[in-house]
Amino acid sequence: MNTKHKVCPVTDIPLLEMRCVSLSDRNVLVAHTDSGIFVSDEMCTHEDARLCDGNLNGTLVKCPLHGSRFDLVDGRVLDDPADENLTVYPVTVEEGIIYITLQDSNNPG
Ligand code: FES
Repeated sequence: MNTKHKVCPVTDIPLLEMRCVSLSDRNVLVAHTDSGIFVSDEMCTHEDARLCDGNLNGTLVKCPLHGSRFDLVDGRVLDDPADENLTVYPVTVEEGIIYITLQDSNNPG
């Protein structure tokens, strides 16, 4: 079963910026890009770095620690040293509020 989780109002994330947001069971990165809003896991897949401390360029987020880039559209990793894709979540916006949908496979329960 899929469950929808409220993240934050769109107005919390200025255009072309990103923020880390704490949900009840995980921390996520929310990016407001020219191509829309994207939500992914907050932490880099390489080591302990919060991606919201990095740079956003289009839909690409660059890790602040070793510079790997991830495409927030599909979570694909583009550069070494990270070699694991980032988990990204399906996003919907309703009445100005950002929601993500968690599926069984990424919902701990
Ligand atoms: S911690 Fe992100 S690339 Fe190393």
